Amino acid sequence: MSKTGIRTAVFPVAGRGTRFLPATKASPKEMLPIVDKPLIQYAAEEALAAGATRLVFITGASKRSIADHFDTDQELEKLLESQGKSDLLRQVRSVLPSYATCIFIRQPAPLGLGHAVLCAEAAVGNEPFFVHLADDLIIGDIACLKQMADAYEFHRGSILGVEEVPHSDTDKYGIVEVESSRSQVSRISTIVEKPKPAVAPSNLAVVGRYVLTPAIFDDLRQTSRGAGGEIQLTDGIARLMSHEAVYAHRFDGKRYDCGSKLGYLQATVEQALAHSELRSDFRTYLLGLTRQLARKPAAGTKKKRRKA
Ligand code: UTP
Repeated sequence: MSKTGIRTAVFPVAGRGTRFLPATKASPKEMLPIVDKPLIQYAAEEALAAGATRLVFITGASKRSIADHFDTDQELEKLLESQGKSDLLRQVRSVLPSYATCIFIRQPAPLGLGHAVLCAEAAVGNEPFFVHLADDLIIGDIACLKQMADAYEFHRGSILGVEEVPHSDTDKYGIVEVESSRSQVSRISTIVEKPKPAVAPSNLAVVGRYVLTPAIFDDLRQTSRGAGGEIQLTDGIARLMSHEAVYAHRFDGKRYDCGSKLGYLQATVEQALAHSELRSDFRTYLLGLTRQLARKPAAGTKKKRRKA
């Protein structure tokens, strides 16, 4: 458990991942690998690094492979052992440390992120908890949730992970206005779900990391369907703000939006460049490729005709 006593991390994984269809038709987007680890494993490792010991997955249709991933696979372990593949065996065995437990809860229908979080109530109980959206991959020296747990220890209120996004993108995020735009952690004065750039209160976007107090559950119960006909976590947090302070935390680290194809590819390339086994060969390959690309015009762009 972390110093703050936050022991539960909730992973809402019940969305359909339509931006990745057909890859996500039968297998979850959270199982997409970044090099050799699925997104959900990065998520679990971050939560464990922040002190969580109970991992609660809110699952939906076609998500069985997530449970399989965190389960022991004795057949595979025996096979790797008999083949003397001790390094792979160690990696497979260390997917989940023995002190951590997994709980799987089915969200009956994808009614929105707020509804998914509400499904975790019985498992969380009356304690603060983390919410982690695995498709926002955040890489940094200190696990993002650990940074937020430390902020919680000081402020003792709900904390949302935020970062600046281009003004033109405000309609893709929950956007907050904070009391002090200079501090790393600041109380939120306004939160709105996906505002159009012209009416957005700022360009400070909520990304997939939260520390929430259990009071959020009552607020979510009273939240009706909002943007996109879904029960929005942002709307529940707006209610929470009417009776509790909620803070924004500008985390240190680089975020990749792995729910989008471009963000996913960027994460893959950069993690491959950081991978101990691959980095040298992959770098050589990329350098060759960029030289080729520099010589070749991109597909779809016309070559300028030389004047005679
Ligand atoms: P997104 O809207 O980004 O994810 O939800 P999605 O629906 O899976 O993906 P697209 O947009 O169709 O490509 C944000 C997070 O909330 C979870 C998703 O799994 C994702 O982690 N979620 C969303 C749920 O668990 N339940 C829901 O009803 C909706």
